[in-house]
Amino acid sequence: MNGKEEAAGCERIVEMDVNLGQVSIRNPKGSPTELPKSFRFDAVYESSCRQSELYDETVRPLVDSVLQGFNGTVFAYGQTGTGKTYTMQGVWAEPEKRGIIPNSFEHIFTHISRSQDQQYLVRASYLEIYQEEIRDLLNKDENKKLELKEKPETGVYIKDLSSFVTKNVKEIEHVMNVGNQTRSVASTNMNEYSSRSHAIFVVTVECSELGLDGENHIRVGKLNLVDLAGSERQSKTGVQGERLKEATKINLSLSALGNVISALVDGKSTHIPYRDSKLTRLLEDSLGGNAKTIMVATIGPASCNYEESLITLRYANRTKNIKNKPRINEDPKDALLREFQEEIARLKAQLERRGMLSKKRRKSQRKIILEGEEIIDEGEETEDNIEKDMENYLKEQKETLEKEKVAIQDDHNLVAEEKQKLLEEKEKMMEDLKKEQEATEQLAAKFKVGQ
Ligand SMILES: Nc1ncnc2c1ncn2[C@@H]1O[C@H](COP(=O)(O)OP(=O)(O)OP(=O)(O)O)[C@@H](O)[C@H]1O
Ligand SMILES: [Mg+2]
Repeated sequence: MNGKEEAAGCERIVEMDVNLGQVSIRNPKGSPTELPKSFRFDAVYESSCRQSELYDETVRPLVDSVLQGFNGTVFAYGQTGTGKTYTMQGVWAEPEKRGIIPNSFEHIFTHISRSQDQQYLVRASYLEIYQEEIRDLLNKDENKKLELKEKPETGVYIKDLSSFVTKNVKEIEHVMNVGNQTRSVASTNMNEYSSRSHAIFVVTVECSELGLDGENHIRVGKLNLVDLAGSERQSKTGVQGERLKEATKINLSLSALGNVISALVDGKSTHIPYRDSKLTRLLEDSLGGNAKTIMVATIGPASCNYEESLITLRYANRTKNIKNKPRINEDPKDALLREFQEEIARLKAQLERRGMLSKKRRKSQRKIILEGEEIIDEGEETEDNIEKDMENYLKEQKETLEKEKVAIQDDHNLVAEEKQKLLEEKEKMMEDLKKEQEATEQLAAKFKVGQ
């Protein structure tokens, strides 16, 4: 109970049986014979429980699945002030009080540092949905509204959402901090802002591994960490009439989430209204689709919150019945790691070609030296030399092509048509050479930036 609840003289009406995974809630206005209402869940946690207990028992297996290539989602749902943000983020400065998000960062990067035969690529995005508008929390222009788009092969995505490749816990924490700052700046301008917006931190983990078929395979797991808006307004006005309309306007995504959950569990609906809100569209896979999903429902223990807490428990109880169909995402088209690997292969091929050129050159050098019967150290091939070799090679090629072009033009024995064809061919080869040169220049520039 918080200070306000204690000062108001509220009593504790919630009991948790951690072993049974059961919550009981007593109606403070009920008759003395009225039995408390009980709900069973996969796990329940007391207010005194440690963050690490929740993480290790409930969240760790989900993040392990993400590392194997499954999608995973953690929702925190509940009335304002009941601990959604505490559960997801916690108190960063106190290791004991760190929430699911920082714990998952540690988990992911510890796993990666211990892996041996896999290559990983981790990237992070951070967004929020406020009044049905999507904002990128990592973009400097924080007021820019983003759009949802759909691709047949990859499904729904947010156009222009920034994502950052992170190599360790420090880097991903930095991403989180930047986003949190953007959020807090906005919250000073708007009352109760944080409680009315949904914050979604997305971690995408790509893993490449050599398969039994001798080919590299990429698995991609996406982890959505969702701190939902406070559920109270929706449920308080969840009755009828004007107030329901108002609530819907205030948080359409939250009521759509409720409708999607209801439609999924009633078993009769053929239509699931995912398209009714940004949140449900974006997280369609997390509800009844290709993802493993955890919903953490947070409730307060005080009698003054009896109704809200009961509604939250019923909501969570219904959600429990959703059946998802998670599968490992193997070799998706949009894997960034594949793009990187292809670029590395291109670079290697370029380097090899350069290497061959310098070998050729070294050979001829060596021949001269041997003829002179001298033994000298050939020395290390430097980047600059390779660079020069490449330049010379391109220059030589260009000269040869020019010569051939002139020779064709001067050849009076060739019929006009044939001549034209050959000239066009040469033109094309020169064009290709130009492109190659440009690509080499770009590559060299990239190298320098990377160093
Ligand atoms: N299990 C807990 N142990 C200790 N403190 C907690 C716990 N849960 C919540 N708190 C504290 O209660 C206060 C409210 O929690 P929090 O901000 O997480 O609520 P919230 O559900 O995110 O609310 P809102 O919907 O307004 O964003 C915070 O000061 C938080 O530190
Ligand atoms: Mg919060």
